Amino acid sequence: MSQELQGRPRTTIRQTLASAHPQGEITVGGWARSVRRGKEVTFIALNDGSCLANLQLVLEPALPDYEVLAKAGTGACLIATGDLVPSPASGQPWELVVRQARLLGDADADYPLQKKRHSYEYLRSIAHLRPRSNTFGAVFRMRSTLAFAVHRFFQERGFLYVQTPIITASDCEGAGEMFRVTTLPADRPPLSEGGEVDWREDFFGERTGLTVSGQLEGELFATAFGDIYTFGPTFRAENSNTSRHASEFWMIEPEIAFAGLADDCRLAEEFLRYLVNYALQHCGDDLAFFNERIEPGLIARLEQLAASQFQTMTYTEAVQRLQNSGRSFTFPVAWGSDLQSEHERYLTEEVVGGPLFVTDYPAQIKAFYMRLNEDGKTVAAMDLLVPRVGEIIGGSQREERHDVLTEKMRQVGIPPEALGWYLDIRRWGSCPHAGFGLGFERFLMYVTGMENIRDVIPFPRTPGNAKF
Ligand code: 4AD
Ligand code: MG
Repeated sequence: MSQELQGRPRTTIRQTLASAHPQGEITVGGWARSVRRGKEVTFIALNDGSCLANLQLVLEPALPDYEVLAKAGTGACLIATGDLVPSPASGQPWELVVRQARLLGDADADYPLQKKRHSYEYLRSIAHLRPRSNTFGAVFRMRSTLAFAVHRFFQERGFLYVQTPIITASDCEGAGEMFRVTTLPADRPPLSEGGEVDWREDFFGERTGLTVSGQLEGELFATAFGDIYTFGPTFRAENSNTSRHASEFWMIEPEIAFAGLADDCRLAEEFLRYLVNYALQHCGDDLAFFNERIEPGLIARLEQLAASQFQTMTYTEAVQRLQNSGRSFTFPVAWGSDLQSEHERYLTEEVVGGPLFVTDYPAQIKAFYMRLNEDGKTVAAMDLLVPRVGEIIGGSQREERHDVLTEKMRQVGIPPEALGWYLDIRRWGSCPHAGFGLGFERFLMYVTGMENIRDVIPFPRTPGNAKF
């Protein structure tokens, strides 16, 4: 009989549960979340990842293969065809009275995802199976939906999507956090006369690594297409083991020509509000789950963000606020040093109680490409801080003046010839432009309430961990 199931169109459980009326001959496929064998019938709660809810399958002893099916283990994969009828059980509109079913892949009794709450640490150790849990089902559905929303936002506004390179010779942020890409033998690399590794012998004829940002190439495209964005993987060999840093993460980087810092902030605010509204409109069930199980008040917080106007404060003012706060922070606050996570959270959570742009940072703590302000000390930078997560966006107006930029590169030790193409843009048709980067995982933490970046990316890479 089993072969007869093949070829029938499969209906997702999401579609099935949304049915407006009873239906016959529905075929579903999924993985058993639980199997409850009773005297009269067996119930299987089936989940296929299309939504949070399970579909209850009702199996009666007269069913062909009943004995095999009723012994299926938690985690087993099966397909079933039957009649969709109103369910007498509470909390589910429909159940499927099975007429035919096939066990495609049984699951041993030691299936690690049993029906109880597991810690996130444990679930990370079974990252190959955690997508089949409620929480991670919801996380990865939202991740997918919101990735689409990112493209929609920019495409609706006429931005060009550019795929910037992953292997690159330039360290955009200048922080020395690039992973090396090389084909030279690690034990016996060719050496130059000075005894250093001779990168000219390497695959690309120079020292290369994985990109820390697509911005520099994005800027080139902005001076041809006006408004562009990138959305791709980004790599940072930063040895910080925090809940907000990953060695591989996804970043969205728009770059806009004929624009300054205020335009940049406006775009960032519209973008974030759009994504949050999109989540509220398209991820209702998953958000309700996060609201109930992960962060009480999450939905209210998102609705508030969608309605609010973001606040802005200069770095100088932020430092004053922190110094006058009467708080004792672990890291001291002084004009000229970078804000730490504890400072950022204090500003966004307690001073303004919502999203906050901090602008005009001291030049020495920001990347070389940011535009120098009139005061000669600060740059036209902005960081967007949000409650719980801290920095979610970093951006700036770019230095478009050839002489100022060349001088800046000299000061920070970047030989101008190493970035000749970047400087060329300032020689031929230079224009004021600005952009920012949104860390996609930081945003997902914000919108789901999940507290660790490892739990919003399918297979996290962090120091000491690249197993899956
Ligand atoms: O502030 P960052 O380093 O800025 C840039 O890379 C610029 N080139 C962006 C631009 O102007 N086009 O990084 C931008 C954002 C941060 O605000 C944060 O959300 C995220 O990227 N981010 C990380 N996310 C996860 N793990 C890490 N290690 C991250 N480092 C930065
Ligand atoms: Mg930053």
